[in-house]
Amino acid sequence: MNATLVRALAAFLQLSSWNGLVNLGLEGDAERQTTKLIYDGEGILSRGARFLRKIGLVGLGNMGLPIAGRIVQAGFSLVAYNRTKAKQDALRGKAEMVGSQREVAESADSIIIAVSDTTAVEEVMFSSQGMYERIAAGKTVINCSDILPSTSKRIMEKLKRKNINYLEVPLVGGPVQAKTGDLVALVSGDRTRYEENLDVLKTFASKVFFIGPVPGAMYIKLALNHLSASYAQSIAEGSVLVEKAGLDPSLFIQIVNSTGFKTSFSEIKAMKMVKGSLEPTLYLRHMLKDLDLTDQTAEEMKVFLPLLQQVRSSYLGAYNMGYGDRDYSAIVKFIKDVNRMK
Ligand SMILES: NC(=O)c1ccc[n+]([C@@H]2O[C@H](COP(=O)([O-])OP(=O)(O)OC[C@H]3O[C@@H](n4cnc5c(N)ncnc54)[C@H](OP(=O)(O)O)[C@@H]3O)[C@@H](O)[C@H]2O)c1
Repeated sequence: MNATLVRALAAFLQLSSWNGLVNLGLEGDAERQTTKLIYDGEGILSRGARFLRKIGLVGLGNMGLPIAGRIVQAGFSLVAYNRTKAKQDALRGKAEMVGSQREVAESADSIIIAVSDTTAVEEVMFSSQGMYERIAAGKTVINCSDILPSTSKRIMEKLKRKNINYLEVPLVGGPVQAKTGDLVALVSGDRTRYEENLDVLKTFASKVFFIGPVPGAMYIKLALNHLSASYAQSIAEGSVLVEKAGLDPSLFIQIVNSTGFKTSFSEIKAMKMVKGSLEPTLYLRHMLKDLDLTDQTAEEMKVFLPLLQQVRSSYLGAYNMGYGDRDYSAIVKFIKDVNRMK
């Protein structure tokens, strides 16, 4: 498209207050990026902010807040809501903050949900104050919360009856990766809807895997949660063993990080874990919830997962000892408690 045509189109958009998507094909991209035209009143066209589509976000917790930051930074219009209003303050002036999830449903084109668990997603969608009644056909709900795969599928089917699209997008990584845009996103749902929303997903996820039909992504996420809970517990048990032997557990972590057993957990969290407490990035109660989801799913599928049972019992023990609102690496405190160590 030549410059004169682009300017004419921009002037038309300005005059008509047209609010839609313009695919200029200016960047020749495979992801069908949409470009925002800005007409400054003097005929100068800029392409500073690239998007006209409005993104909604419900849930500004440890994950939702940095995700919101990335979306705004990338130039999208964002409308957001959090049940506890105080958490909205961090976004004031940067995004449109509204008083209910229903207002998000009414004004956004794609709506991201990042809330605690299966019950929370169902409440946000289907309670008497839920979004379901207010989402128009053709819009897309993007669920980034870890929930029961069978429920995720039921939600998709219910939305489909109203021609509302559903993408299940569990995320790998925590708030630190969300802030830097380095999450890994697993996507299940319709491929076309995935492609349409890839630009927004890429604002917070540097790697995006399209898995296929719902709830494939959720199954993979549960398997990964099992892995990270087991790994954290193994590091905790190893450091307790080393400490009991009169050695410095920091040395153990340092050695782990010099071997093929190194992970982002051992690099970022493990040293802090053996030295004291950590700011929660994933609450231990959420890790227990994820292990419960895996257990329930294995039960539905009649799959025997013996390690899962043991790890889940440990996290349940830690939760019952009062560590639910600590970071999940507080599993080390529980292992110390049962070994009568400080
Ligand atoms: N943190 C991580 O490292 C991580 C990584 C990957 C995936 N996840 C998953 O991402 C999801 C969010 O995790 P998070 O760490 O951000 O949790 P979080 O910090 O505990 O935040 C939970 C959010 O859900 C909202 N919420 C809970 N119940 C609700 C309800 N009934 N109605 C409306 N809002 C409700 C909370 O609102 P209030 O503020 O009002 O309580 C809060 O905004 C979870 O499914 C988690 O398993 C987390």
